[in-house]
Amino acid sequence: MIDARGHRLLATVEDTEALGRELAAHLQAGDLIILDGPLGAGKTALTRGIAAGLGVEGRVSSPTFIIARQHRPGPHPGAVGLVHVDAYRLGGDLDELDALDLDTDLDHAVVVVEWGLGVAEHLTDRHLRVQLRREPESDIRTVEWEWIAAAG
Ligand SMILES: Nc1ncnc2c1ncn2[C@@H]1O[C@H](COP(=O)(O)OP(=O)(O)OP(=O)(O)O)[C@@H](O)[C@H]1O
Ligand SMILES: [Mg+2]
Repeated sequence: MIDARGHRLLATVEDTEALGRELAAHLQAGDLIILDGPLGAGKTALTRGIAAGLGVEGRVSSPTFIIARQHRPGPHPGAVGLVHVDAYRLGGDLDELDALDLDTDLDHAVVVVEWGLGVAEHLTDRHLRVQLRREPESDIRTVEWEWIAAAG
């Protein structure tokens, strides 16, 4: 069981993936996850854990050149899909994000958006915000997560 809001030290990439698996246990179709944090912070690693936890098909890799990758649900009953978006290259362009039709995907999938802070919040009335941090000097990595209701 994981709290709806929390923080943690992520000593290794395995810890980051494990958090993703734990979070996935509480996710369902329609849930939006917004990942924030600098280059190499572990956003894709966390997504890999979420994918493993959901049991979706396909390998999670960095979708930088395709913007959004669809992962079909696994074979178990009630399985949901995953859409993995990397909004880095959208540069805050809301029209381009809307062109991805993520609201349709949300009917049957969990949607994870790397670099989604400030661009993806409007897709749902609440989202899980995950803030990954990496201290440049020590390389110590930490994470905070919280469900946030959309403004207005
Ligand atoms: N505790 C940790 N958590 C996550 N990644 C870690 C950790 N320690 C080391 N790493 C390494 O840091 C890198 C994180 O890469 P990842 O692609 O997940 O970052 P990202 O935030 O998605 O980057 P980008 O902004 O380029 O998409 C990987 O090479 C991973 O092995
Ligand atoms: Mg990434």
